[in-house]
Amino acid sequence: MDPLKFRNALGKFPTGVVVVTARTPSGELVGMTMSSFNSVSLEPPLILFSIHRRALSFAAWQSVSRYAVNILNEDQEQVSNQFARPSANKWEGLATLIGKNGTPMLPNAGVVFECENYARYDGGDHEIFVGRVEALHEHAFTYQRPLVFFEGRYRQLASSASAHTPPPEVELLHGW
Ligand SMILES: Cc1cc2nc3c(=O)[nH]c(=O)nc-3n(C[C@H](O)[C@H](O)[C@H](O)COP(=O)(O)O)c2cc1C
Repeated sequence: MDPLKFRNALGKFPTGVVVVTARTPSGELVGMTMSSFNSVSLEPPLILFSIHRRALSFAAWQSVSRYAVNILNEDQEQVSNQFARPSANKWEGLATLIGKNGTPMLPNAGVVFECENYARYDGGDHEIFVGRVEALHEHAFTYQRPLVFFEGRYRQLASSASAHTPPPEVELLHGW
């Protein structure tokens, strides 16, 4: 399969944007922008994301047992860019909040999930990280709308006026 064609096809699936943040055992702050975040399980509460094995910080991510998943708001494109560049100081200019489980978190993220690493799986050129959610924060007063990523570009949701729910026969099976 043509890798570019495959990548472009995957880009037709819109996602949100998160920054996953952690402190390594040696005390270094790490953070990475990701669109591969998704829900896994309600009981126990599990989420996942995947990290490219060639990321500069890959070894650091393998060493952490806890991390926070910060869902970005639509006004945080710059934060997304800041954590998507290989840089020694991704946290420059940002205050660091400390979560209940001791993980560093971003200020002003709409929702933050504090996680303990639950499992890691082989995912080809990526590694899949499954996190067990230990605490969750919703910053209602800063929450606007989430940043959206689609076809390789940042997007914004249109007005909620067109937000229809699925019909009853297809919704909410097993919590969906
Ligand atoms: C919107 C967006 C989504 C991204 N999603 C992922 C992802 O899910 N997994 C990943 O490994 N890299 C992803 N990246 C790329 C990383 O953020 C980027 O390679 C980062 O520089 C890696 O950090 P490091 O080089 O310090 O290790 C994404 C980048 C952007 C802009």
